[in-house]
Amino acid sequence: MCGIVGYIGKRNTQNVLIEGLKKLEYRGYDSAGIAVFTDKGLEIAKAKGRLANLETKLENAPLIGSVGIGHTRWATHGKPSDVNSHPHTDDSHKFSVVHNGIIENYLELKEELIAEGHTFVSETDTEVISHLIAREYEGDIVKAVQKAISHMRGAYALGVLTEYEPNKLVAVRQASPLIIGIGEGENFIGSDIPAILEYTRNVYILNDGEMAVLTQDAVELMTIEGNFISREMIRVDWDATTAEKGGFEHFMLKEIHEQPKAYRDTMRGRIDVSGKHVVLPELKLTPEQIKNIRNVQIVACGTAYHAGLVGRSVIEQLVKIPVETDVASEYRYRSPIVTPETLVIVVSQSGETADTLAALREAQSHGAHVLAITNVVGSSIARDADDVITTLAGPEIAVASTKAYTSQLIAFYLLGLYLAEVRGTQTPEQIAHIIAAMQALPEQVEKMLSQADAIKDFAEQISKHEDLFFIGRGLDYAVAQEGSLKLKEISYIHSEAYAAGELKHGTLALIEDGIPVIALATQESVLEKTVSNIKEVKARGAEVMAITFEEHVAGLLKSVDQAFAIPKTLPILTPALAVVPLQLLSYYASLARGNDVDKPRNLAKSVTVE
Ligand code: G6P
Repeated sequence: MCGIVGYIGKRNTQNVLIEGLKKLEYRGYDSAGIAVFTDKGLEIAKAKGRLANLETKLENAPLIGSVGIGHTRWATHGKPSDVNSHPHTDDSHKFSVVHNGIIENYLELKEELIAEGHTFVSETDTEVISHLIAREYEGDIVKAVQKAISHMRGAYALGVLTEYEPNKLVAVRQASPLIIGIGEGENFIGSDIPAILEYTRNVYILNDGEMAVLTQDAVELMTIEGNFISREMIRVDWDATTAEKGGFEHFMLKEIHEQPKAYRDTMRGRIDVSGKHVVLPELKLTPEQIKNIRNVQIVACGTAYHAGLVGRSVIEQLVKIPVETDVASEYRYRSPIVTPETLVIVVSQSGETADTLAALREAQSHGAHVLAITNVVGSSIARDADDVITTLAGPEIAVASTKAYTSQLIAFYLLGLYLAEVRGTQTPEQIAHIIAAMQALPEQVEKMLSQADAIKDFAEQISKHEDLFFIGRGLDYAVAQEGSLKLKEISYIHSEAYAAGELKHGTLALIEDGIPVIALATQESVLEKTVSNIKEVKARGAEVMAITFEEHVAGLLKSVDQAFAIPKTLPILTPALAVVPLQLLSYYASLARGNDVDKPRNLAKSVTVE
């Protein structure tokens, strides 16, 4: 995630870019920059941190001109810093590029360009693009961009300027969003409609593999191969606030719907082209160290802890190493038994949670290798850990975590498979089989999201209750805990998640007529046992909703009141699907209660106190 904006016209370009970037800050905000064609040539200003830092810089040295591009960054390659901020340029400083996405083969390209004499100043994948365009330029910027992208693999939305053709702005879309705004004597590009909505409501939405060439008075659309295309202009009739949420009523709903993309982005470049191996080139952990691991400890808080509960089963099942998962605030004070052969995995969306950071330091003080799974490059946890797997969920705004959690699950699957291959605990066939099933997950989530209405009705029913239970066994129990937390956080309904077999040891006393129970029943090895537990609560008057696979719906409906079917996947991957209806359930229950879904009472997105 990152935000791109571009302008060509008679207004004060700098202001248009800055105002546009303000609307895109939700896409990332660790640094920002603009490039404007001024009377001195192509000038660039950038600053680490919030957009306000860039604004302060520009107050002292404004960039005056009539064409420009801007960027607000959410770091993926290289920590947030002035030099890693976009726009990027080449050795000649004649070309300037803003980019949203990931260039998967940037390292190969970078080596090739260095061998040809190019000098790089940043750690980003984007800088490769500006050098490639400069290399391919022979007097036509459109052709140079087309040639450059023919060498690139990955996802990208681009805005490109060159000093040689100052009356042109080139835009490209390949698997990252980009729209073109059409004005009178002025035109715009943006990652999202809000960036330009102040100036025009007429837009073209680019499709993957398409590009646009903007001048003040015209916009030409073409494929990246250069075939001209015509496209119907869309008239936007939303207001700016709705648009920022991409048309969704809340950020949480938007983020739930972004999960297929977050799964794809987190897997992108980490599964080799054969689809048979996980590759984690970012890991410093050597095969030797991996073979010496004696135990794993997963430490995190809140939702990330729940991802760690799934991670425990994943690593135990795939790698056959003992794993324990603990909440960070407990771990650090319980004198954990950590040795240099312990792999400690800390999980944190923000990378700033104080308890998790303290746990990381505690583990390091015992000589353990600490691997962080985090969503924020350059965060304290990412900086201090010995190894980092970055989840590519994009910025999460709603306090209740959804896409960050599921991306953490994807990270655990990738890590589990990688460790299993190195230690030889799964056969190549088993690994390939799991990878193939993982690759189907994004589409399966899309399918469930299209059936969200079925969940809405049940959510409205439960919104009238004050107590609720989630039950499940094995991985279903881990998902039940996350479902219960989600519901508490935003609906304020008291709920508890119980291991289905444990309920009868006390908590069953709380089950009475009409109390809602959500039963996770996806783990087929224990399905019959779970059904027995469902019968125990039904016999005491509970209203039960089951989450299960399609093939079990008919059978389960003999014991439950309602059932929601999730697409079929391998047992180990089920959490990545089963949690989605629970996220929707919480969302709609919160909505039905009239709560502030995105900013629930008493909570904060990032907790930097112990
Ligand atoms: C806060 C948030 C939770 C989150 C937890 C851990 O409590 O409200 O949603 O799960 O912190 O955050 P982290 O950024 O470390 O994943």
